[in-house]
Amino acid sequence: MKLEEQRQQVVDACRYLSRSGLVVGTAGNVSIRVDDVLVISPSGVDYEAMSARDVGIHDLDGNAVDAVLAPSSELALHLAVYRSSEHTAVVHTHAPASTALSTVVDEVPASHYYSALFGGPVRVAPYATFGTQQLADNVSAALRGRNAALMGNHGAVLAGAALPKVLNLVPYLEYVCDVQLRAMATGAPVRVLDDAEIAEVGRLLSGYGQQASGKD
Ligand code: 13P
Repeated sequence: MKLEEQRQQVVDACRYLSRSGLVVGTAGNVSIRVDDVLVISPSGVDYEAMSARDVGIHDLDGNAVDAVLAPSSELALHLAVYRSSEHTAVVHTHAPASTALSTVVDEVPASHYYSALFGGPVRVAPYATFGTQQLADNVSAALRGRNAALMGNHGAVLAGAALPKVLNLVPYLEYVCDVQLRAMATGAPVRVLDDAEIAEVGRLLSGYGQQASGKD
């Protein structure tokens, strides 16, 4: 099994996260599901030195199909998301504002309309030790009906149908968390948007920007 294109996509995604300050050191991990296997970043490999060959392929029970290195320590988390949803790409970051907010709230309130990008207020999965099945279970539960969750005292996870789209959302989640942190830091009550408004914004955002005309 080759999947060279997906392996390179994973490397490029890891470099993007690192260069954008959305992970520190070798923190974070990225995977893509292709049918009944996943292509996942290796554990603890410097992102600038990582090559497509370092990115392993594992089956949905976590067994290596074609891997020269140990997979991400969060393999169980990625597997749990794929088993419990339709998502086919998962990104785990340690972005600073997302991580800071994960230490003080149980849910990111809809203080900014961009909450609609994630399907509503983003839940914070209760803390569990990194790499454990408990963390995987907590995160997959927090993702129910959402495409993002914070991981308590740890970081963030985003999921979706295609890796480029999931990566695009990472800075938006970081922005929403940064806005909430700054608003909380004023000490004033933070105004929050209601579910109906978030649903309306979700509808509008799905048609936002330049839509393909359908004529070509
Ligand atoms: P890996 O390098 O094993 O993917 O671990 C990084 C991490 O962020 C663990 O949560």
